[in-house]
Amino acid sequence: MSKFKTSICWSLILAIFVFAVIVPKELVDGKAISDVANKSIIKSIKVDKDEIIDCYDIYKQPSLNHPLLHNHTVQEKPSMSPKNIKLDNFGTLQLTQTWHKYGTCPKGTIPVRRNIKDFRSKLSRKHPRQKFSHYKMPNTVRSDASRPGHEYAVIWVSGNFLGAQAKINLWNPVVEAPLEISVSQIWITAGENDDRNTIEAGWEVSKYIYGDNQTRFFILWTTDDYNTGCYNLECEGFVHTSSNIAVGCNFTELSTFKGYQKDATFSIHKDQKSGNWWVQVQGIPVGYYPSSLFTQLSKTAKEIDFGGEIYNQRSRERHTTTQMGSGHFPSEGSLGISSYFNYVQVIDENNEAKDPENVKSEVTNPNCYGLKIDDKHKNGYGFFYGGPGYSDNCQ
Ligand SMILES: *[C@@H]1O[C@H](CO)[C@@H](O)[C@H](O)[C@H]1NC(C)=O
Ligand SMILES: *[C@@H]1O[C@H](CO)[C@@H](O)[C@H](O)[C@H]1NC(C)=O
Ligand SMILES: *[C@@H]1O[C@H](CO)[C@@H](O)[C@H](O)[C@H]1NC(C)=O
Ligand SMILES: *[C@@H]1O[C@H](CO)[C@@H](O)[C@H](O)[C@H]1NC(C)=O
Repeated sequence: MSKFKTSICWSLILAIFVFAVIVPKELVDGKAISDVANKSIIKSIKVDKDEIIDCYDIYKQPSLNHPLLHNHTVQEKPSMSPKNIKLDNFGTLQLTQTWHKYGTCPKGTIPVRRNIKDFRSKLSRKHPRQKFSHYKMPNTVRSDASRPGHEYAVIWVSGNFLGAQAKINLWNPVVEAPLEISVSQIWITAGENDDRNTIEAGWEVSKYIYGDNQTRFFILWTTDDYNTGCYNLECEGFVHTSSNIAVGCNFTELSTFKGYQKDATFSIHKDQKSGNWWVQVQGIPVGYYPSSLFTQLSKTAKEIDFGGEIYNQRSRERHTTTQMGSGHFPSEGSLGISSYFNYVQVIDENNEAKDPENVKSEVTNPNCYGLKIDDKHKNGYGFFYGGPGYSDNCQ
């Protein structure tokens, strides 16, 4: 009896211990997270069978759970724009997103794209070594063997910068293999090796991330050379402020070969008052990366890159047919044929926007993709870039 009692007693103690220490901790965490999410989502908008837009209370958005943002006060809009920035020309694009047809996010909320199907985990199971760090950026050693398969056609400048802006031509390049990407973007960077900090914005096609081949607005950040950080709102960090523009959504208007040209102006700019890095598209402030997230970009950016990147998986033992930009070389023709960046500006330490100076450029695989500076300077500083990938010259 006493032995039995003791064992009941022990079981009880164990049960209490499990409940008090182990289970509740998990429950509390689990509950806290879903409760927070539940209370924070004011409205959900169904876009199509795979996509929902959740409108989160701006002050309860998941990013604010980042350990470095516990005391963060949300900055609702940028305090000022850089001097001389070309804000008057937002190109031909009336910026709408597909989900606008199905509803709007109320004032005081922010749209967060939710993919119903988890494409990535399916792919990750197939390719278990595929990590975030797969998506490296170009840097001063672009042809670096640590990033096999990544090819670039970019220009870049070095110095001390508070941001950059460019109007980027919008296309829907063919992306051949499941892990491949085709990106056209701005990179803002500081720091070396494991301490590399970046903020990136532009458009991309990536089946791996989105499960389809659409041209989407994306943002990305890292503070440690892509070991941590993420795309869009996949991790905590980016404080979203716009109730109208969601990250990760597709562009509804794209360019056609020798037809209408569509473009969008992307800018990344360090706010002078708060130090936060604001991301804007078509002059609309989307949100910002708080300065406190960064080790190096808490100060100025040291390098800015503009241009295209693809990833070549060589899935058929030859160079991929994944296109960059429009899929045509600058040598084939300019406007309407090859993809462009124009109104390229950098923002200097005095918060003044100006044309980039001492520009360097690099094309890592000129048989497959090209880049040509636009000497005419009709639309500010600009260049044409891109190409088809696989061909007789590109094996
Ligand atoms: C929030 O909780 C309620 C009640 O438990 C549930 O019906 C609803 O689906 C939840 N909403 C979200 C967005 O998870
Ligand atoms: C938040 O504020 C508290 C109290 O002032 C302070 O102890 C803590 O370190 C702060 N946390 C962060 C992440 O700055
Ligand atoms: C995108 O995917 C659709 C459906 O799978 C296909 O019909 C279309 O040709 C693809 N477009 C490109 C540019 O790859
Ligand atoms: C954007 O996405 C919607 C919904 O998935 C789709 O119907 C539309 O064709 C896409 N637009 C473009 C230009 O690809």
